[in-house]
Amino acid sequence: MSPGPGGADVTDVTDPRSNPLSPQVRPDIAHNARVWNYWLGGKDNYPVDRAVGDQVTGMYPSIGEVARADRAFLGRAVRHLAGDMGVGQFLDIGTGLPTADNTHEVAQHTAPDARVVYVDNDPIVLAHARALLTSSPEGATTYIDADARHPERILQAVEPTLDLRKPVAVMMLGVLNFVLDTVEARSIARKLMDAMPSGSYLVLTHPTLELGGAGNEAAMRFWNENATPPITARSRAEFASFLAGLELVGPGIVSCARWRTGPATVGAEVAQFGAVARKP
Ligand SMILES: C[S@@+](CC[C@H](N)C(=O)[O-])C[C@H]1O[C@@H](n2cnc3c(N)ncnc32)[C@H](O)[C@@H]1O
Repeated sequence: MSPGPGGADVTDVTDPRSNPLSPQVRPDIAHNARVWNYWLGGKDNYPVDRAVGDQVTGMYPSIGEVARADRAFLGRAVRHLAGDMGVGQFLDIGTGLPTADNTHEVAQHTAPDARVVYVDNDPIVLAHARALLTSSPEGATTYIDADARHPERILQAVEPTLDLRKPVAVMMLGVLNFVLDTVEARSIARKLMDAMPSGSYLVLTHPTLELGGAGNEAAMRFWNENATPPITARSRAEFASFLAGLELVGPGIVSCARWRTGPATVGAEVAQFGAVARKP
């Protein structure tokens, strides 16, 4: 791993020596990336993740549906942007562990020359990042080991994979909910979008206690006492404030399960807002 400009770690994950299992990985404490992987049916998780994941499911039975709806939203949003809107660059912050239909796979299926930068601060995601970097020969995929709370460092490290003179889709799916201070979360979104040219997009999902999600309150309290990092839900108004100054793409702010679904793909509403908005 080498320090990139501004201190973010740009990792050559194509070099197997750069990926020893980090001593920061804590198999004894449930961690979001691994529990999310468990809810999605993945195998990259430990007994403690499965135990906490099952307890949360007991308190909030639709959490598995939320995770699947979030991933399906990711697929529809990236296909729409790479296909219909011609966006060729994606900055996916809070990547998560590799699963089916990762951002670069969806984007490059539509636009083989799409360029994708992944960012996460979880050492286990870093350890698995090599699996993410199977870019199409025409496109590019890189991974930055950085914290969403340091947008300046991320912006300094994205080049040369991304050309910030051309539109970028900035994706933060299920990640601003780990920035507990709403003012800070808003500032992260604003700083990232301020650095992007006109025609760029912000793609967000976020849990809420609205949309039938009130049952999640106790589950989130349990999570915050037993797992890491701590999480928060947000109201529609708070979610909308992350998109201030941008033009919402139809249908606007909805349950992510209801964003641009066709008759074949419409699912039950889940308590996770989803939206895509364009920088004018
Ligand atoms: C709920 S998962 C979502 C993964 C993926 N975006 C999706 O929608 O399926 C959240 C991811 O954000 C990462 N994350 C949490 N806080 C972060 C932070 N402050 N900086 C960067 N990544 C973070 C976690 O490690 C995890 O991989």
